[in-house]
Amino acid sequence: MHQPKATKGNTDWFVNDRFGMFIHWGLYALPARHEWVKNREELTDEQYAPFFKYFNPKRFDPDRWAELAQAAGMKYMVITSKHHEGFCLWDSQFTDYKATNTPWGKDLLQEVVRAFRSRGLKIGFYYSLIDWHHPDFTVDMRHSQRNHPDRAALNQGRDMSKYRAYMKNQVRELLTNFGKIDVIWYDFSYPGPDGKGRDDWDSAGLEELSRSLQPEIIINNRLDLPSSADIYTPEQFQPRGWVRVDGQPVVWETCQTFSGSWGYHRDEATWKSPGQLIRMLVNTVATGGNLLMNVGPTALGELDSRAEDALRVYGDWMRQHSESIYGCTASALKAPRDCRLTQNGDRLYAHIFAYPFRHLHIDDIGDRIEYVEFLHDGSEIHFSVDAANSAILQLPVVQPRAEVPVVKLYLKS
Ligand code: GLC
Repeated sequence: MHQPKATKGNTDWFVNDRFGMFIHWGLYALPARHEWVKNREELTDEQYAPFFKYFNPKRFDPDRWAELAQAAGMKYMVITSKHHEGFCLWDSQFTDYKATNTPWGKDLLQEVVRAFRSRGLKIGFYYSLIDWHHPDFTVDMRHSQRNHPDRAALNQGRDMSKYRAYMKNQVRELLTNFGKIDVIWYDFSYPGPDGKGRDDWDSAGLEELSRSLQPEIIINNRLDLPSSADIYTPEQFQPRGWVRVDGQPVVWETCQTFSGSWGYHRDEATWKSPGQLIRMLVNTVATGGNLLMNVGPTALGELDSRAEDALRVYGDWMRQHSESIYGCTASALKAPRDCRLTQNGDRLYAHIFAYPFRHLHIDDIGDRIEYVEFLHDGSEIHFSVDAANSAILQLPVVQPRAEVPVVKLYLKS
């Protein structure tokens, strides 16, 4: 089986837990048309100001978010402490652009951390390297004011060294004032002539600071500093196999949305189907990765009912099948037709994506199987072994009532 490259941060819990909740929440929940709205529509600070002025999430209930995450089988969360718009969910000493200065008036991050931690979920902070609000962040090709007629003048007096200091101050707050933080998710670098990368951020300094404050912390791969990456983060696509870097398998986590936006998007309608959601989770673990599934709470602080439905899809399936996810990884064995395999030692799990008529053939494994059962109800599945050492499993004609049924095989150790 694959042995991913060793990490500096502690990924032991991470590769066991496999499933987390991503939370994108900020002022962009008000325009409700993508978290990049300031950039896409090239809004000025003045045009964006109403979202700060009217930010008042009066139905904010992080205990409910945490309850839903836990019921879905998620074991950790990563929340946007600050996204590209620059707005901070916590009471940072280093800016006025924060939740405590909105009509809401209270620190949101402390509350979210408390709620999730009290249910035993691990805590991750997303922190945007990009900042379209900070006065020292220079206007570049990805900035919301990139097409400003007087871009040169806008950049006069902007000083990235001050912005670097600002980031360090904030990261120090985030990694000091909230107890144990398990993941820091920096986002993102776009090196090049009109972009920003490791020198603009002082990525080495950020890594050092993060690890010195939280020695076990996991750092993602978006600092444009390969040596700093514990985990790799393919976004909005499903890798076909174990993610490799320079030919070596690495610890990885794919991040995905229920519909096509990270921030709450009222009119976005590409919500994934229940079957698709389950298959994405299974595909991820079957190729050795983690799934970080996103929710974008509304301006009022609630999860959209469509997101709640999607979380329930996971919950219903995970209640009976989490054993084939937690602690599992890719199997070196060849998956039968229309199936995905995960494995945990001598337990092998076949996830049936297209339910066949009566027989499931698993090649080259006949002599290794001790016992077979369905995972959802523990019912025995009879099997025979043919001359070629294929196992032939006798399935009931009717598919069990599971989005993706799972057959558990006890292998001889
Ligand atoms: C991106 C986007 C962003 C989102 C994120 C999630 O790079 O800029 O809006 O937060 O990735 O992976």
